[in-house]
Amino acid sequence: MRLVLLGAPGSGKGTQAQRLEARRGVPQVSTGDLLREAVAAGTELGRAAKAVMDAGQLVDDATMLGIIRERLARPDAKRGFILDGFPRTLVQAEGLARLLDDIGQPLDAVVLFEIDPLVLERRLAGRRTCRRCGRVFHLESNPPRAGEFCTDGKPHELYQRPDDTEETVRRRLAVYCERTQPLVDHYAEQGLLRRIDADGSLDDVGARLDAALREGV
Ligand code: AP5
Repeated sequence: MRLVLLGAPGSGKGTQAQRLEARRGVPQVSTGDLLREAVAAGTELGRAAKAVMDAGQLVDDATMLGIIRERLARPDAKRGFILDGFPRTLVQAEGLARLLDDIGQPLDAVVLFEIDPLVLERRLAGRRTCRRCGRVFHLESNPPRAGEFCTDGKPHELYQRPDDTEETVRRRLAVYCERTQPLVDHYAEQGLLRRIDADGSLDDVGARLDAALREGV
């Protein structure tokens, strides 16, 4: 299974990618997570990316293509991958197509998460992430259950992403409309696009994702 999950910030790509990874054993590849790991590690990439991410802008295409090339070369990606947050521009989509062509692993499908922008703002305001395992929660719709533990046996230690402030969320949504939405037509023309309604419970959206995948993966 080789998938791209496409959708606005907060549409639920990361949440469903984590659930799909658990169901199918195919790794989630989140470029946002890879960048946040570089920021936390204080690498040169992380230092350069932090300012861009905090401003709600996109890291440059050449850097992102380099990160993806390296990540897809790791052994676990031989089983397939769920790309979450990549590609985000036409240049990235074209670079990805060349890379997948080189390694003989073309995409099976691109799933677009469709949702009302007002829902997105509520979701991002309440999002909390586990600092240790990266699992995504929501204060109202998906809080950690009492007594639920992280991968290291300790309770989840949650934090709010610095780019989830009101002003940065508005910027990220505008950047999505301008830079990423053109990918919808791009992948529709290639016959790869599947659309799902991303509003509903986590289980309902997961079931719609499975149904969309049955159409073509
Ligand atoms: P990234 O981390 O990729 O952020 P994003 O695409 O903006 O997406 P989000 O992670 O905000 O949302 P999501 O759709 O995954 O929603 P989630 O599942 O968390 O990128 C961050 C930054 O890195 C970018 O702004 C950019 O600077 C840089 N970057 C990354 N990739 C790049 C690239 N390719 N090129 C250039 N720059 C790049 O859900 C949100 C909340 O809603 C959670 O709290 C969740 O629990 C809740 N929720 C989810 N589903 C439901 C549901 N069905 N019902 C109720 N609540 C739900």
